[in-house]
Amino acid sequence: MSLVIAIDGPAASGKGTLARRIAATLGFAHLDTGGLYRAVGLVRLRQGGDPADAVAAAVAARSLTPDSIGTLTADPALRADETARAASVVSAVPAVRAALLDFQRDFARTPPAGAAGAVLDGRDIGTVVCPDAPAKLFVTATTEVRAERRLKELLGRGIGAIYADVLKDMLDRDARDSQRAVAPLVPAADAFLLDTSSLDAEQAFDAAMTFIRSRPGFSGR
Ligand code: DC
Repeated sequence: MSLVIAIDGPAASGKGTLARRIAATLGFAHLDTGGLYRAVGLVRLRQGGDPADAVAAAVAARSLTPDSIGTLTADPALRADETARAASVVSAVPAVRAALLDFQRDFARTPPAGAAGAVLDGRDIGTVVCPDAPAKLFVTATTEVRAERRLKELLGRGIGAIYADVLKDMLDRDARDSQRAVAPLVPAADAFLLDTSSLDAEQAFDAAMTFIRSRPGFSGR
């Protein structure tokens, strides 16, 4: 049985960085599930279609294969804000979520390269994808802190952006992700809430590892 760590939280909460570091520390495999929704969004953008077209989004999600997922998630366009917006729209379509479920659960159950466990990060890992995960974290930060972090990241990548636009984009995306009918962004009842607003990456990592090591199956790891 693979040991699963479920990490959920809103955009720019720091969950991706945290998930990668936890996976590397424990020698676990890592799946950024947002990348799967971004892959569907990117396919739709490249088809020149409207991401809000639910039928076409479902067809695009069902057509993904492990190979095409590998290619799309390595594409630099996956990280573009336009792709993030499209991902947030297609992810509200129930048939898109259903199409991506097996891939995520297979990864958790049988992580690649024979890893002893898997870290999955996203919005609904602890609530829907892996409700039995023995360690669940919900990573948050205030909207303003998350917008600051995203702005810094964009400027660091040489992409021009202004704080007000980034903040608005963040608020729009939060609203879509939290208010959708299917698998909305909510903490699982048994998740450890980690607010990173006033923590640096090191402090967030230490708090997460202390929690994880207190969970069944993780002591001594
Ligand atoms: O984490 P991210 O920014 O890469 O996610 C992109 C979008 O995908 C996000 O706005 C919501 C959606 N998503 C989701 O609905 N469920 C997940 N498990 C992961 C992401």
